[in-house]
Amino acid sequence: MTARLIDVEVLAATLSAAAWLGAAWCAAARRHRAAVLLVTAAVLAMLARFGLVAAIARAGWWFVQEKVSVALPLAAVTAAAAGAAVVVARRLTPVALAVAGYAAAVGPVLTLLAGYPAGWGTGLVAAGAVALAGMVTWRAAGNRSRRAPFAWLFALAPVVLGVAIAVPAPVSAAPEDGHGVAVTSLRGPDPAAAAASGIPVRRFTLTARTATITLSSGQRFQAWTFDGRAPGPALEVTQGDLVVVTLRNADIAAGVTLHWHGYDVPVGEDGVAGMTQDAVRPGEAFEYRFRADRVGTYWYHTHEASDRAVRLGLYGTLVVRPRDAAAGADLTLPLHTFGTALAVGDRDQPTTHVVAPGTPVRLRVVNTDDGPHRLALTGAPFRLAAVDGTDLNEPGVVDRVALRLPAGARADLLVTAGPAPVTLLVDGGRATVRLAPAADAAAPAPVDTAAWPTLDQTRYGAPAATPFGPDSHFDKRFTMVLDRGVSMVDGLPKYAFTVNGRAYPNVATQTVRTGDLVHLTVVNRSRDTHPMHLHGHHVLALRYNGRPFTGSPLWMDTFDVQPGEVWEVALRADNPGVWMNHCHNLKHAAKGMVVHLAYEGYAAPSHHVHGA
Ligand code: C2O
Ligand code: CU
Repeated sequence: MTARLIDVEVLAATLSAAAWLGAAWCAAARRHRAAVLLVTAAVLAMLARFGLVAAIARAGWWFVQEKVSVALPLAAVTAAAAGAAVVVARRLTPVALAVAGYAAAVGPVLTLLAGYPAGWGTGLVAAGAVALAGMVTWRAAGNRSRRAPFAWLFALAPVVLGVAIAVPAPVSAAPEDGHGVAVTSLRGPDPAAAAASGIPVRRFTLTARTATITLSSGQRFQAWTFDGRAPGPALEVTQGDLVVVTLRNADIAAGVTLHWHGYDVPVGEDGVAGMTQDAVRPGEAFEYRFRADRVGTYWYHTHEASDRAVRLGLYGTLVVRPRDAAAGADLTLPLHTFGTALAVGDRDQPTTHVVAPGTPVRLRVVNTDDGPHRLALTGAPFRLAAVDGTDLNEPGVVDRVALRLPAGARADLLVTAGPAPVTLLVDGGRATVRLAPAADAAAPAPVDTAAWPTLDQTRYGAPAATPFGPDSHFDKRFTMVLDRGVSMVDGLPKYAFTVNGRAYPNVATQTVRTGDLVHLTVVNRSRDTHPMHLHGHHVLALRYNGRPFTGSPLWMDTFDVQPGEVWEVALRADNPGVWMNHCHNLKHAAKGMVVHLAYEGYAAPSHHVHGA
């Protein structure tokens, strides 16, 4: 709703600008009637903008800040000036009308190119630009005056001053670059010591290399793989194990790392190239080790050039099962788009798993793509048992309800196989997984799930005690306003994905102390969905668009902030280090939507600017 209102307001402003300019043209051409009509339209559109902005503001100040502080005042003042000019000149003066048009256009330009927050600098640039455009128009209309040089100066000065204020100063060294405990030194347990004390050690080796993979349909894909496969090997361990993974790089020239998505490992194992380690170059290796103390569904992927590298196949699943794993079938289903094919694992055609009727089945669906997928289960009711690896409290049985699975997120579905096949449809059938009593069981009649409602996770399951909640006292609060805007990325101005008006690495680091209770407000002003992912921590969902979550506690590592939405989440700062907090649409991350969350007293010595 908010996103749509923002669009309508941008449209109203554009129409208003066009009407003012049209009126100016008609007035100059002495087409009086048309000019009056267009002025009326321009004023009505302007009034509509005031109404729309008031409506948008109810969703939060962030959504209207640049409109209230800059765009609307400019539009109103110039419209009033055009009115005053009529009174003085006793006719519609084209230049004044044109100026009102330029001022109306400031709104859409600010909203789409600059975004939040618009400060003094932006306001000065906008006002000066309107004045300059007015001067140019005045001159083009054949006017002369001895005082013109002063007027030019008067218009130019605010632009220069505004640019000086608005252009971000070059980043001073981020706090995490300073002195402190090096994050590279915070490693997992030593395998030899662990083995000596009786901890089971599970060893894996993953070798990154280019390979041509063949999907089940026969379609071939030039991939970047772990062990020649995409997805890479499924890592399955038992709670309590010490996981030791040796990463080797055969020929991935960009370099590779392993990031344990959703697993809160010590920061030195987090696999962020350029921050917690250097990328592993061809011929090199790196050993990761962490205790698998938390059960659930996770995944791993490279964190160097990850936009491209994950898309090409450098990812796999990580499942940690409890010691007393429940009986039944347990399937891990990583979704990934290879080119145009949506595959489950390496299967891009419907797949059937033979399961005896009455068997409980856990479907662990992992979204390794950049955008959300829609899951629908036909043929049986189900429970959403876990989100991002954490079991939900008393998840109720639901039927004919779809699930939205954000990029990077995981959903565990529990279903009981029946005598008739049960079918998981991804995106309405772009990918299909069937559970059937026999491989040759007749396929059920297709079900159209498009009209099914989406499960409302803000009130699914039963509440349970949590260590903190919406009304706790928070030690730190951060707001992240997600938007698009022109900003510097890799040394070049780009139409970036911004956080608080800046693109990484110019976004202010979120600095916390060990033990802090941290509140994050994430606001999406843009027209894209942003699956926000925090490394090293799980966040507890507190409020969605101002309303508290009333169902099962929802602990997430990746949550989808859709256009116009406001999420409030909280975390306990209990895993010291320097961490990434970024959009998991990796294209957005590569274009700026990254923040660091840094603990005081910790430093990332190998820190350099990198593309997430
Ligand atoms: Cu799954 Cu920083 O990423
Ligand atoms: Cu994004």
